[in-house]
Amino acid sequence: MTISDPLADRLLKSAARQSYDPEVDIDWEAEVLPGLHYMVPERLSLWGTPTYDRLTPEQQIELSKHEIGSVASVGLWFEIILMQMLLRDVYRSDPRSERTHFELTEIADECRHSLMFGKALGRLGVPAYGPPPLIHRFAPIYPTISRGAAAYASILIGEEPVDRLQRELMHDERVQPIVRQVSRIHVIEEARHVSFARDELQKAVRQMSRAERVFAQTVTAQGAFIMMRSLINPQVYASVGLDPREARKVALGNEHYRATIAWMGEKVMPFLEECDMVGGPRNRRAWRASFLLP
Ligand SMILES: [Fe+2]
Ligand SMILES: [Fe+2]
Repeated sequence: MTISDPLADRLLKSAARQSYDPEVDIDWEAEVLPGLHYMVPERLSLWGTPTYDRLTPEQQIELSKHEIGSVASVGLWFEIILMQMLLRDVYRSDPRSERTHFELTEIADECRHSLMFGKALGRLGVPAYGPPPLIHRFAPIYPTISRGAAAYASILIGEEPVDRLQRELMHDERVQPIVRQVSRIHVIEEARHVSFARDELQKAVRQMSRAERVFAQTVTAQGAFIMMRSLINPQVYASVGLDPREARKVALGNEHYRATIAWMGEKVMPFLEECDMVGGPRNRRAWRASFLLP
């Protein structure tokens, strides 16, 4: 007998109606169009600075290609970790339950997303930048140390801010169609994942001890800092002849970029506050350093 779960049932029906195969649903052969950006220019890390203004229009477009490439490569890396977290959960779960069925469906979604991002990086001709080497090396322990609230709050930090960026991107006619197509597919399928993770987080926080709550708050705040700092790999700046260290410094001091990250966090942060996942002054320092909290 199937073990029912109303939310999982609804999400499974949505997945049956709207799922995409990047192999066939994206025209990988389509030409990139001259003069179009690869990201909303105002969301670039250097936008609004003299360093950005000194670049030629061609260099600004080139930089936008590398920045979206960096975001996609970090998204892909995050998805691989996320699939491991979900698989560990599935391993302990009843295969007859709709909740497990949805987790398996989400793993399948993420698997296709990683394939889609990997193909997009190849098509754009940019490196798979990924997160900093140390983070890349130690991140695989994450699925073993975090479960429940810590896991689902971190998942929301990985999914919601980038989702906000992609929702805007997919509507912007100044952006290359191929980037808009990839973003659109991702946004449609991510909506299910966000609903599921929010529900799991709400359930988890109801059953938590005080010690577990403090642990989850700390892990999430540190994870958010790492995630937001990793999105733009400093090596992207070398693609337009800028010194990565110098340009990184300019980006982190750029009020427009800080405002962009705060905007990316505008949906998820109130929800995390509501779930009491943001924590006290020490954690708030990490949240502010991530720029998700202004
Ligand atoms: Fe995804
Ligand atoms: Fe997802």
